[in-house]
Amino acid sequence: MFIETLGCAMNERDTEHMLAELKEKENYIATNDFKSADLILINTCSVREKPVAKLFSELGIFNKKKKDGAKIGVCGCTASHLGHEIIKRAPYVSFVLGARNISKITEVLHKPKAVEIDINYDESEFAFKDFRSSKYKAYINISIGCDKSCTFCIVPKTRGDEISIPMNLIIDEATRAVSLGAKEIFLLGQNVNNYGHRFSGNHEKTNFTKLLQELSKIDDLRRIRFTSPHPFHMDDEFIEEFATNPKICKSMHMPLQSGSTKVLKDMKRGYTKEWFLNRAKKLRDMVPDVSISTDIIVAFAGESDEDIKDTIDVMNQVKFEQVFSFKYSPRPQTEAEFFPNTIDSDTASARLTSIQELHIKQLDENNASKLGNTYTVYFEELYNDGFVSGRSDNNIVIKVKGSEELLGKFIDVKITSIGRTVLTGEIIN
Ligand code: 5AD
Ligand code: SF4
Repeated sequence: MFIETLGCAMNERDTEHMLAELKEKENYIATNDFKSADLILINTCSVREKPVAKLFSELGIFNKKKKDGAKIGVCGCTASHLGHEIIKRAPYVSFVLGARNISKITEVLHKPKAVEIDINYDESEFAFKDFRSSKYKAYINISIGCDKSCTFCIVPKTRGDEISIPMNLIIDEATRAVSLGAKEIFLLGQNVNNYGHRFSGNHEKTNFTKLLQELSKIDDLRRIRFTSPHPFHMDDEFIEEFATNPKICKSMHMPLQSGSTKVLKDMKRGYTKEWFLNRAKKLRDMVPDVSISTDIIVAFAGESDEDIKDTIDVMNQVKFEQVFSFKYSPRPQTEAEFFPNTIDSDTASARLTSIQELHIKQLDENNASKLGNTYTVYFEELYNDGFVSGRSDNNIVIKVKGSEELLGKFIDVKITSIGRTVLTGEIIN
């Protein structure tokens, strides 16, 4: 079996779940070579148009070069949104499995031309078999779906309404992962800090702060990360827990999308420029070492030159450690699909370039200040050039010369040279 995973961390975890089900129930073994696989899966993303276009060209290649009799399945968000159309356009596809139907992977395998894409399907309490691609870090879903209605975003249409996973199931899963050696857990949800709002069974309402407090009680668990929180739900209680709980890693993703209050309103994001700046300032004041990352969309329908200046102003005030920036891509079934799009493609490209250049300048300045600093690194990855890498608590990727025995250990490292995405250091004894 061969699986290609596109898109976000949520998709990575869905892939792990499918691998687990297929291994346990159908005896499949994973391979990196699709030509020798009996089953080829593509776990797709539909958040922007490009990956969707790429899907059909890739499917063509898989079909041409696959082993005789091998099945091809299309899973994930594009499966949810295109459904039957995938089999119409690529009739050799064996099944289509939506992002909210992942638990049915072993069923669709035996149903020729199955299309399972119900976005109301509730798998919030499904007991997936266990499989993790990393021994050191465990991805754990805390909710499925998304209850927001951002006008640019297709996700509520591909992953359905938000349902929280019961807290006892999350704690059991985390405890099991930690007992198997993971010292870090990575909590996943479209909107993690809206956790506890709605469950499918009879569970008392709760919130994300309480979940973090409960998870922190797991003895050998050293680090908790999560993605993505929503700026709208960043109340004082949450920021204070983030700041004071030593197990919570000091790295926060705060998806800005736009710095202009007018554009944020058109996007239905639920916050203003001032609220965002206020939250970021509170974070920086309470956690001097915090690293803040963000997502920015440029050239959203109706965005003016003044609006993009607001985005740049927020970047200058917050000085994000990481910026993921995208040109707005109109998506089907979203409210903004029919907004008049007044921005030509050259202007959109120029705006994207200005955001990216500013980010690189800020990144270089920020990185330069780290030379000589010491960080505790949790080593996770072995390169084949004699280096091992890991992350600091505040999410800096750091590599040192070393071998396998560093993996899974927390070690103090002094930074000796600066790169743009990876810093190099020496172990301090
Ligand atoms: N066009 C461009 N970027 C988008 N994103 C979501 N929808 C769109 C879209 N229609 C971006 C947002 C989100 C990230 C995962 O993808 O910035 O935070
Ligand atoms: Fe993830 Fe959103 Fe892409 Fe789906 S559409 S894979 S939820 S980023």
